[in-house]
Amino acid sequence: MAYTFISGATGGIGKAFARKCAANGWDLFLTGRSQEKLDALREELFRIAPSIRILAVACQLTDGEDRKNLLAAADGAGAVFERAIHVAGVDIQKAFEDYTEEKAIFQIRVNVEATISLTHALLKRGAPMKEIVVISSMSGVTPMPYFALYSATKGALTSFFTALRLELKGRVKVTAVLPGGVPTRPDIVKDIENQGLWGRLSAKSPDYVAAKSLKAVKKNKAICIPGFFNRFLYVVMKIVPRAISMRFIARRWKKQTKDAF
Ligand SMILES: NC(=O)c1ccc[n+]([C@@H]2O[C@H](COP(=O)([O-])OP(=O)(O)OC[C@H]3O[C@@H](n4cnc5c(N)ncnc54)[C@H](OP(=O)(O)O)[C@@H]3O)[C@@H](O)[C@H]2O)c1
Repeated sequence: MAYTFISGATGGIGKAFARKCAANGWDLFLTGRSQEKLDALREELFRIAPSIRILAVACQLTDGEDRKNLLAAADGAGAVFERAIHVAGVDIQKAFEDYTEEKAIFQIRVNVEATISLTHALLKRGAPMKEIVVISSMSGVTPMPYFALYSATKGALTSFFTALRLELKGRVKVTAVLPGGVPTRPDIVKDIENQGLWGRLSAKSPDYVAAKSLKAVKKNKAICIPGFFNRFLYVVMKIVPRAISMRFIARRWKKQTKDAF
């Protein structure tokens, strides 16, 4: 059976993807850290689409053995993959010196290592993979002081998947999605509010981001930036000299800190 793989399915953006994919009638292979949250989501999705198949397997993405177990569970169920939607990510925001080493490595493993390792494993299965979507971020467009590691991980994802797209040309469509603010968790909703007009202009709902992303990959777009203001910002960031944009970003983000678990 050909499934759509969604990581981070239990989060705000992941759930929006899961609902849209279920409504499309696609069979789903969902993962997140909590089996309880996955089971609740599975129940909800069956109400949207009672006839689809849904496999939901918890996985700590930082753990290579757990990732192997996840893939073994897929193999055991006879699942092959026609679409991968990599949503899982952690957004720690603070001065780099304020990180513990453990947290720094945790963020790199979830955002980069796990995403790339699972992409490799799913492609190597020789399954009929048709589409890959990765949720990167506008934060990866330019280096961001005080959000430096998150920004670097997202920049790496955008770069990697843009290049991979060319390697897979004619076989697999690959789209990197660069959302601005997306009101998902309460702390992100508060951050967006604190940013005033800027936050309101940049923010797009999880549903909007999921819908735009699925349309973009269908059209085989390399990059999808949901929202006009974010597309405008992207162009500005490409034009304005880095030294200037980084000074602006440092002033803006120095005041804000956020941890992840
Ligand atoms: N929200 C925004 O403003 C925004 C903007 C740009 C880009 N993004 C990106 O969009 C993605 C989703 O963001 P969101 O706002 O929906 O965040 P979220 O609600 O916190 O969801 C994050 C998802 O990733 C999973 N996850 C986190 N760490 C994991 C780990 N170690 N192992 C396995 N799964 C793990 C979470 O699982 P649990 O449910 O078990 O925690 C959850 O399903 C992230 O990659 C984020 O960087 C978000």
